[in-house]
Amino acid sequence: MWKKVLLWVVIGGAAAALLIQVIPYGRDHSAPPTTKEAPWDSPRTKELADGACFDCHSNQTEWPWYSHVAPLSWMLYRDVSRGRSKLDFSDWKDDSQALAAAADVQSRRMPPSNYKMLHPLAQLTDAQSAELAAGFKKMAGQ
Ligand code: HEC
Repeated sequence: MWKKVLLWVVIGGAAAALLIQVIPYGRDHSAPPTTKEAPWDSPRTKELADGACFDCHSNQTEWPWYSHVAPLSWMLYRDVSRGRSKLDFSDWKDDSQALAAAADVQSRRMPPSNYKMLHPLAQLTDAQSAELAAGFKKMAGQ
């Protein structure tokens, strides 16, 4: 009896895992065009931001293989959409955004900790965080 129930739970789970793959949400991995590049103060600031921020805050998102698998694809898509809408280094709005970026790097709110686990370049040392924050401040004229 319990073996049968377990079997159906496993079969049901596998079927659900397959079925959700056809939901189209989160499939769009297209890169919007660069409208206005951020006013980088130096190649180094850009390099650090590239490693720690670009996946969610630019049109140069590198979509990993698991970004094609639901439900992870939905979570990643949501992060990138929200990230780009708040701050986009490829669609720069105004220099005060660099101040917000500096503050979030300094306070370690960004990059998000779950992202850091899988992305070594985003695991900024204290020195790298300070360097990146200082670069952002220069971009804001400070
Ligand atoms: C894994 C995706 C991801 C990465 C990587 C990431 N961010 Fe974010 N970021 C988000 C999301 C999602 C939001 C919007 C939700 C929030 O504010 O927490 C956000 C919000 C922000 C905001 C707030 C903007 C506003 O107007 O409120 C700033 C500033 C920011 N990020 C800077 C950075 C910087 C700088 C880096 C790199 C050091 C970075 N982020 C890396 C996903 C990311």
